[in-house]
Amino acid sequence: MPTLLARSPITPAVTRPEGVRVRPLPRVIGADVPVPVRDGRRVPYANFDYAASAPCLEAVHEAVTRALPYYSSVHRGAGYASQVTTAAYEDARETVRSFLGAWRRSAVVFTRNTTDSMNLLAHAVPAGTSVVVFESEHHASLLPWKRAVRLPAPATPAEALSAADRALRGCPIGSRLLVVTAASNVTGELWPIEELAHVAHRNGARIAVDAAQLVPHRPIDMTALGLDYVAFSGHKLYAPFGAGVLAGRADWLRAAEPYLRGGGASASVGETTRWAPSAEQRHEAGSPNVLGALALAAACETLSPAWDDLAAREEALVERLRLGLATLPHVRELTLWGERAPRVGIVSFTVDGWNARDVALTLSDEHGVGVRDGKFCAHPFVRHLLGEDRSAVRASIGIGTDEEHIDRLLTALAALTAR
Ligand code: ALA
Repeated sequence: MPTLLARSPITPAVTRPEGVRVRPLPRVIGADVPVPVRDGRRVPYANFDYAASAPCLEAVHEAVTRALPYYSSVHRGAGYASQVTTAAYEDARETVRSFLGAWRRSAVVFTRNTTDSMNLLAHAVPAGTSVVVFESEHHASLLPWKRAVRLPAPATPAEALSAADRALRGCPIGSRLLVVTAASNVTGELWPIEELAHVAHRNGARIAVDAAQLVPHRPIDMTALGLDYVAFSGHKLYAPFGAGVLAGRADWLRAAEPYLRGGGASASVGETTRWAPSAEQRHEAGSPNVLGALALAAACETLSPAWDDLAAREEALVERLRLGLATLPHVRELTLWGERAPRVGIVSFTVDGWNARDVALTLSDEHGVGVRDGKFCAHPFVRHLLGEDRSAVRASIGIGTDEEHIDRLLTALAALTAR
């Protein structure tokens, strides 16, 4: 019998047939880098800030190092190095397309990050498009729209579907867009994006998914899930070289004015300017971030064959973390849909009697534990979860996290709450 490794509402159960050899897991640079603590020791860094920026995969570093001797202009030179670099850049686009399961005629535009991708989409939507978004979104997906119907954070996934359905049905005639996250950057909870895609399409709308916090943890298949647009960032996908992606239906992007005006976006320039017809050229003006794109593609290639093992390992670590937090009487986990809701490796919490900044600084100064504190660029959502204008602490995990890191965080929190 195959072993069941992971199940989520987004991707089908991941199975590994018996007898298949386990390949070594991808590794990150700096997983145990020593950091100073207050008593003068140096301890291996326990990085719990993957959701903000994940460390670089070794394979990404190697891919960038291999590319550097041929580093040259993209789409602008006839020399050998330029040909190699241009081919590598376009290959990177195809690697990303396949990583996302994007339709072969979809646009795959390299951007700077998810915020840039969502702003590009906001720039490209036809005038008068009705946009529907939940207040629980990260600011990258909440703020780029000129006008949007903002729905309250839903109490259940079913309520997310019914609220989106009602809001889209009530939109005026014309183009409509539902914008939603795949996995919350605050609670890690997985959103029912396949069902939301059905709701959107049933109402003549498109769906744009912020996958920044999903793709570092789970595979995605745009075609199977029916997603019209997906945005994500390289720096959360173990590829910290400044590239992001907007992938999706090309028509709006091809019809829009260039996101940036300049070389590359223009097909011919005279008295008037004719803009490049392809979505990618039109919205990638100027010399592109080729190393960022290659790094991102290398991360996609490294993660794709490893999902089974990565997802199983992460689920065990998250469970260890959450069970441990639940034993600490003064620690309260933030959740929208309850403790059993499926989630990725992101856990936010408050500590009674402590402000979040002090918790985060104490964890770092005394234990070498790096967490994020604040409202995580999701102010309305954190306010909704806490019922007041207050910050929380977030522990997010990834490939370099191990059990010792989790236990150190839990021991540190126990000591802190016992003071
Ligand atoms: N969006 C990033 C986060 O959630 C920066 O931390």
